[in-house]
Amino acid sequence: MTSNPRQFAIVTGASSGIGYELAKLCAENGFDLLIAADEPQINQAANDFRSLGVEVEAVEADLATIEGVDRLYEAAGGRPADALLANAGHGLGHGFLDQDFTEARHVIDTNITGTIYLIQKVGRDMRARDQGRILITGSVAGFMPGSFQAVYNGTKAFIDSFSFALRNELKDTGVTVTCLMPGPTETEFFERADLLDTKVGQQKKDDPADVAKDGFDAMMNGEGDVVSGWKNKLQTTLASVTPAGVLAEYHRKLAEPGSGED
Ligand SMILES: NC(=O)c1ccc[n+]([C@@H]2O[C@H](COP(=O)([O-])OP(=O)(O)OC[C@H]3O[C@@H](n4cnc5c(N)ncnc54)[C@H](OP(=O)(O)O)[C@@H]3O)[C@@H](O)[C@H]2O)c1
Repeated sequence: MTSNPRQFAIVTGASSGIGYELAKLCAENGFDLLIAADEPQINQAANDFRSLGVEVEAVEADLATIEGVDRLYEAAGGRPADALLANAGHGLGHGFLDQDFTEARHVIDTNITGTIYLIQKVGRDMRARDQGRILITGSVAGFMPGSFQAVYNGTKAFIDSFSFALRNELKDTGVTVTCLMPGPTETEFFERADLLDTKVGQQKKDDPADVAKDGFDAMMNGEGDVVSGWKNKLQTTLASVTPAGVLAEYHRKLAEPGSGED
């Protein structure tokens, strides 16, 4: 256990995109970091954050697995986390029947199983200390059936819902739960999900630094949720009064393979 007076944050999926920017904000605000991702690129991110003057440990682990999450948790060495930013996740394009089931399951295991397992482990410690902040990266995708990204949108509907429920369960404690719900954001997400030939893959997207700032600020203020960006706020408001079949048809136009311009 360290006697370091700085606060301590665990950030998953910190090697790129929104998670990188979240971890950077934590470092800029004086949090020591334990960061994780599945690829060696996480070590480069760790070097970047160390240059901001905080202590950083990086773990390379597949957070879709219980073993990977356990390894991340153990790397904290018992140091209590002041903040957990559960952000790691990925998508998967194409029609469900055309997807490789192992890949589809990896989306569920990363976005749901590994995410909530880590939240349970770290959340129990926070509740015992009656103190802590949990930020979960959900998505506006959770508001609509995701034709040609069906499994992914389903995982984010789970996460958006889970986040509000956990927040309510902890309302009489010093632990806050915040759900960050980004819209399409300029990260490696679309390439990784094989969505580059789709309309959503090619459209102009939000800046991950802006999205992360919205999430970080909401977490620090203990807010329940934040939809990043006014267009996305409007879209989620409309989605709540639009029939699911209409939303699914809308999503088809965005995510069907070949729906992009080239
Ligand atoms: N981009 C968008 O439009 C958008 C919109 C709404 C919500 N989101 C959500 O935002 C979060 C971050 O995504 P992003 O857009 O920033 O994409 P990204 O640039 O691809 O970043 C994803 C991060 O998660 C990590 N990750 C993915 N699967 C993992 C696994 N099984 N184990 C460990 N690390 C894993 C990646 O590391 P490795 O590369 O090492 O696996 C990477 O650090 C995700 O939860 C995503 O669903 C994204």
